[in-house]
Amino acid sequence: MSERILVAAAWPYANGYLHLGHIAGCYLPADIFARYHRLKGNQVLMVSGSDQHGTPIVLQAEKEGKTPQELTQFYHQGFLESWQRLGISFDLFTTTGTANHARVTHDMFLKLREKGYIYEDTMPQPFCPRCRRFLPDRYVEGTCPFCSSPQARGDQCDNCAKPLNPEDLIQPRCRVCGAPPQIKQSRHFFLRLSAFSDRLLDWLKDKTYWRQNVLNFTQRYIEEGLKDRAITRDIEWGVSVPVSGWEDKRIYVWFEAVIGYFSASQEWAQIQGQDWHPFWTPGEAKIYHFIGKDNIPFHTIIWPAMLMGYGGLALPYDVPANEFLTIEGQKLSTSLNWAVWLPDYLERYDPDPLRYYLSANMPETGDADFSWREFWRRNNDELVATYGNLVHRVLTFTYKHFDGAVPSPGELDAQSNALLRKAEDSLAAVDGLLGQCRFREAIRAAMGLAQEANRYLEEKSPWKAISQGKEAVATSLYTAISAISCLKTAFYPFLPFSSQKLHRLLGFAGEVVEAGWRMVPPPPGQRLARPEPLFAKLDERIVAEETSRLGTS
Ligand code: MF3
Ligand code: ZN
Repeated sequence: MSERILVAAAWPYANGYLHLGHIAGCYLPADIFARYHRLKGNQVLMVSGSDQHGTPIVLQAEKEGKTPQELTQFYHQGFLESWQRLGISFDLFTTTGTANHARVTHDMFLKLREKGYIYEDTMPQPFCPRCRRFLPDRYVEGTCPFCSSPQARGDQCDNCAKPLNPEDLIQPRCRVCGAPPQIKQSRHFFLRLSAFSDRLLDWLKDKTYWRQNVLNFTQRYIEEGLKDRAITRDIEWGVSVPVSGWEDKRIYVWFEAVIGYFSASQEWAQIQGQDWHPFWTPGEAKIYHFIGKDNIPFHTIIWPAMLMGYGGLALPYDVPANEFLTIEGQKLSTSLNWAVWLPDYLERYDPDPLRYYLSANMPETGDADFSWREFWRRNNDELVATYGNLVHRVLTFTYKHFDGAVPSPGELDAQSNALLRKAEDSLAAVDGLLGQCRFREAIRAAMGLAQEANRYLEEKSPWKAISQGKEAVATSLYTAISAISCLKTAFYPFLPFSSQKLHRLLGFAGEVVEAGWRMVPPPPGQRLARPEPLFAKLDERIVAEETSRLGTS
């Protein structure tokens, strides 16, 4: 029976380019998962969008001399282009700046308020008497009470990495005008998170299939005691508060960004003439959140609490949060430019080698490292040598000796049957692992089949056996082609571009995704396309070239 799967990927802040940390952290696993379910014939909706609001956007816009609108438009366009080139197959990638998103946010806010889950209170906020406005935490600078760095901010000190509150700073000053801020009481709306502890713990009871770190973190967080949280801010950029008298405040970026999953589903339905309800009806769909580990509490506590308060909507089914990607053994840092930027990568290399390396080395259960040497090695030794060469050797040889068509096999011997069984088993193994979001193991299982097919060919050596006549090799080539056709399917979620190419080389028409999650060997006599290599070898020079770019401006 066909399932309904909502693939919800974190909303990236539209204030900078995407880098490999974003890709390994959530967009690649989300895409693999979506493609896998589409191939299985399930109904998939994959949504996300640009997170346009919040203080970091405002600060970056100021720095670039643009309005927040111009800034986010620019990066949003860049995101769309990157998704296309890397093959991240969103059904909709929108933004939090749409009228639809504001409408859905307002509806949720008002309903939660009506039910008593949102209430008004005051909290102390830094206020600049000269600028005559409340200052976001990051707009207050001063001396760090821990390390005495003079450049600490009201949210944290970059020098010693300690989190701070604005009132902790010694000699605080307004970042804009330098005046010392006062602390004033400011009115805000609060989400009554404390009311949801028991219900959340209850909901977590059957989440035994969650990743251990996600479940532990969430349970500990709740057991330490949930505090109500302010969900409005003294800022001009963001979604308005749908209450009169609140025109000078905005809804806190995190409160509205998570609503994006719901509002984007409605926007998609509107555009496609579809119904969004089944994707959000309890029991009708499974909702998966692909995020980095720094976003866990928003997706396992705050958003589920909002949904419980609102009522009638499906809660997350799984939140397979990833850990971090380090670069050449060091923590990724955008400010130090210790990062590999996606547009740079895509300008110089093909998408599938990156998708391969990041899948095989995904930070699923612990941090993982990206290094250019490993990228180069895995491309040449694994993608090209193990998979690409297997395909190319078999297809060129068959093309040449069998008039460009799939040969008719004779009776299959034990070895040939064993390889076909291995192909079936591998497909089942990859299926099971992908269903559980175990991406590293899944791609390893697919590669295991390529290795097995190589061993089979070593033994059969059709290139030698052909001297005894075509019949002698027709069976082994047919068997190898069947295994290759199976690899096309098993690798498709990870390597969509090369799988599509292989689909065509094997003589199939149309899209590989329509072929389904099953082994469909091309029938004897099917015309093959003129063989071309699936992957290109990379020169070792790129290792030094790329490594030397890191950390430079
Ligand atoms: N913009 C946030 C970040 O990059 C993620 C938001 S995910 C959402 O960390 F669910 F809140 F949208
Ligand atoms: Zn000021």
